[in-house]
Amino acid sequence: MLLPRFPATRFQGSKRKILPEIAALIEAEKCESIIDLYSGSGIVALLFRYLGKRVLANDYLKYNQNTASLFLNYSQEELGALDLDADLDFLLNHRADDFESIVSDEFQGVYFKPHENSEIDNFCQNIQRYCGLKQSLYIYAVGQALIKKRPYNLFHRANLDMRLKDVVRSFGNAKTWETSIKEHAVKCIKELAALPAVDARQPITTCVDTACLQALPQDYDVVYMDPPYMNGKSVSVNYSNFYHFLEGLCDYSLFSKGDTRYPHKPIVNIESAWHKKESALKQLKYICEYFHSSTIIMSYRSDGTPSPLEIQAVMQGCGRQVEIHTAGEYKYALSKNADNEEIFIIARL
Ligand SMILES: C[S@@+](CC[C@H](N)C(=O)[O-])C[C@H]1O[C@@H](n2cnc3c(N)ncnc32)[C@H](O)[C@@H]1O
Repeated sequence: MLLPRFPATRFQGSKRKILPEIAALIEAEKCESIIDLYSGSGIVALLFRYLGKRVLANDYLKYNQNTASLFLNYSQEELGALDLDADLDFLLNHRADDFESIVSDEFQGVYFKPHENSEIDNFCQNIQRYCGLKQSLYIYAVGQALIKKRPYNLFHRANLDMRLKDVVRSFGNAKTWETSIKEHAVKCIKELAALPAVDARQPITTCVDTACLQALPQDYDVVYMDPPYMNGKSVSVNYSNFYHFLEGLCDYSLFSKGDTRYPHKPIVNIESAWHKKESALKQLKYICEYFHSSTIIMSYRSDGTPSPLEIQAVMQGCGRQVEIHTAGEYKYALSKNADNEEIFIIARL
């Protein structure tokens, strides 16, 4: 399926590269409503909106919920009416007398240079003057800028020194790191504004840990799930550790709660059932039982832990018919014995 250019993201594990394959799968499903249970960068929820679906997006991180809320609610008219230059100048540089400097004090030398920390302090306090779309747009854009300015695009290590070392670099990182927060943010908003507009249909976003699903409705046709991935050696991805710093853009007070036992001072650290094999399988069973009338489509990798066959067994144990396909090709994924490819596991009633 030919799609327009969706906004770029450096979010780890983003499915942006396989959006055409996801679109083809969803179109074949002929569904009307979809839950994106682990929305992450929000790009898949945005695709579902673009495909005309009624969407609920969920993620247990506040910054990710903010992004999904923006992606599911914005209109081209609202974006077009903004003065990005003036807004970002105000947000990043205006400093009232009573302003706090939590990031500058608590995160000195950890992630960003002093003038950048000071911009983040200003931003978090000025953004309170905005609401609705304007607030979520700038939180999204500044968060994306901060991701781009980080080595590895993550906040899991106190490694500002990687940026500061005076070495000759043969790759583009140094330029990206030194590009201003404002410049990155403007670029990222322009990318969103360039996407053709599609009406939003009763969008909902939630910020719940899927360990407890009670808050989520059960009447959606499809539940799409792309949970954290554990590789064949059972090494898990802890998203709250990777992106904790962005939570502070949504709740400034969190910056004063960094866990000082670690050099990178995580301001949130939430466990997930998807960090361990046994709890992941239990979580999967709970999801299959809770969404008892929805088709479940799971994005996964063929070398993942638990294995695709273990996942299939749990789904079948819940009375579902299961198909496993490689992303894009309508064929059984595991027949080629390929070691690591994107797959879809589809569990129907
Ligand atoms: C692989 S990422 C999703 C990527 C997304 N599909 C995309 O294309 O960007 C997994 C997401 O699940 C979220 N997550 C992890 N454990 C969770 C839990 N127990 N409840 C809700 N969200 C969780 C993480 O915050 C992360 O954003």
